[in-house]
Amino acid sequence: MRNFFIVGGSGPLGLNLINQILIYNQECNIYSTYNNREISIKHENVKSLKLDFFNERDVDFLVNLVKSKDQPTIFFLASISKPDDAERNPQKSRFINTVLPEIFLQKLDKERVKFFFSSTDMVYGETVDGKVFDENSDKSCMNEYSKQKSEAEEIVLKYGGNVLRHTFMFGPSLSNEKSFYEFIYESLLNKKEVSLFYDSYRNFIDFKTTAKLMVELSELDLHSQIINICSDKKLSKYDLGYLVAKKFNLDSRLLKKILFQSQSNKVYGVPRPSTTLMSNNKLKTILKIPSIEMDL
Ligand SMILES: NC(=O)c1ccc[n+]([C@@H]2O[C@H](COP(=O)([O-])OP(=O)(O)OC[C@H]3O[C@@H](n4cnc5c(N)ncnc54)[C@H](OP(=O)(O)O)[C@@H]3O)[C@@H](O)[C@H]2O)c1
Repeated sequence: MRNFFIVGGSGPLGLNLINQILIYNQECNIYSTYNNREISIKHENVKSLKLDFFNERDVDFLVNLVKSKDQPTIFFLASISKPDDAERNPQKSRFINTVLPEIFLQKLDKERVKFFFSSTDMVYGETVDGKVFDENSDKSCMNEYSKQKSEAEEIVLKYGGNVLRHTFMFGPSLSNEKSFYEFIYESLLNKKEVSLFYDSYRNFIDFKTTAKLMVELSELDLHSQIINICSDKKLSKYDLGYLVAKKFNLDSRLLKKILFQSQSNKVYGVPRPSTTLMSNNKLKTILKIPSIEMDL
């Protein structure tokens, strides 16, 4: 029986991963860890574990559990994932974002474990002159969060693990916590205006499709691979708002366009790329799929 470990599984990606693993694997165990936010999905095959990785005993507990199970697959999602938080508290954040994956990889038998580390498109930095980054492109980190993820990537690759570079993900949070998607939906429903960048682009993708692709990748025998995970389409956050308005038949005139160049410092505390475009050709080749679309 396969055993899946979602390390840091209480966020929107972890919860979507639980659902997709259950769809793909009737017979499996899923161990999903959380620290402050309980795992909201209840299922007989899902065991949620409250662990604080600043506590060495909790780290060792999880390592020993992985060691005791057959065919372990680890999705390593634990992160201080808000760039502003990483900048405010770089040491604490560096421990979770960079040191912790190394501790796990050092302690585990890397031949037995399939390991997927969630990183970010932010490691590429800003797209200039429409350049689309592929997995061999140079990195250019603009903030502490992306530097920490970039450093962790090198460690993960050294130990034979795989690095998944995610773009900004969109969609339902599957918990009580409101995601950006729910913020837009509720604002439009309550006839409130929403201001969204229209000159800043990513190959945005939804959490569910990302999770589905991750589960498909975990079926394969992959080692030391970097794989971009994003959709085919270049979209702005304004475009995302428009998709939500269209899906729920809400008034798209409430969506207000704002410029990244003039407004980003009011929205974000630390610098980040305005536009980062990634190629998903490697992912499509590996999985033998012709296209990757946003599925809201
Ligand atoms: N969301 C995106 O659009 C996006 C984009 C690019 C990359 N990523 C990466 O993808 C991954 C998943 O994203 P997400 O948005 O689902 O993440 P998230 O909501 O930030 O979740 C992070 C997880 O790490 C856990 N964690 C943090 N500190 C911990 C500690 N001291 N001890 C134990 N657990 C701890 C959190 O637990 P609690 O919350 O329960 O405390 C949570 O389960 C992250 O690595 C993120 O950097 C996400």
